[in-house]
Amino acid sequence: MTAMQEIMDSKKKKALVTVRQMEIDDLAAVFHLGERLFTAREAPNLYRTWDEYEVISLFQSDSEFCLVAEDEEKIVGFALGTTVTKSHSAWKYGYLVWLGIDPTYHGQGIASKLFHRFRDLMLSDGVRILLVDTEAENLAALHFFRKMGFGNPQEHIYLALNLDPQLKQKKGRRANDKTHSRYRLRYDD
Ligand SMILES: CC(C)(COP(=O)(O)OP(=O)(O)OC[C@H]1O[C@@H](n2cnc3c(N)ncnc32)[C@H](O)[C@@H]1OP(=O)(O)O)[C@@H](O)C(=O)NCCC(=O)NCCS
Repeated sequence: MTAMQEIMDSKKKKALVTVRQMEIDDLAAVFHLGERLFTAREAPNLYRTWDEYEVISLFQSDSEFCLVAEDEEKIVGFALGTTVTKSHSAWKYGYLVWLGIDPTYHGQGIASKLFHRFRDLMLSDGVRILLVDTEAENLAALHFFRKMGFGNPQEHIYLALNLDPQLKQKKGRRANDKTHSRYRLRYDD
């Protein structure tokens, strides 16, 4: 295939991909695509994990902010988000929680298409600030978000405290208490 043919094919593909609202029948396809994209990497973010409950609950609570990209009935990308209003703030935030494109479709402008539709939905909903987060090493995503106009990255550091020793101690104490109370019961009897 010549370079010119490759460019023509990629443009043709790009034109065929449509973005639409996610529907209930898309749940499984979106979940499995996300599984390929996210669970292979350690943790796209620490406090959310990609599992079927994540997809179902976002679809249930914010179906209007769940979009898919489709190429001839095949789901090739998705954008799932929500809105956040904080008490004591008149500002409404939009949060693009998950964005993923089938790797064989990368670099064809599909994420851009999904993002622009997502941004329009957020604007119609009165959102003033859009938020995204990603790992510091996810350069593709960082480049992508910068290209979409995101800036002012805020560093966030996760610290960990291992509570396992205390948990074991607590369990041991509880088991001891149970044994003692049984003795006491027998004694009282
Ligand atoms: C990040 C991701 C969504 C981009 O999807 P995509 O459809 O390939 O992106 P687009 O084709 O719309 O790219 C638009 C722009 O983003 C930037 N970009 C996208 N992928 C890039 C990469 N791998 N390296 C550098 N820049 C990249 C480019 O500036 C590109 O513009 P250009 O094509 O004119 O150079 C995709 O790589 C992906 O699904 N990654 C895995 C999941 C993920 O990390 N999601 C984000 C966090 S939830």
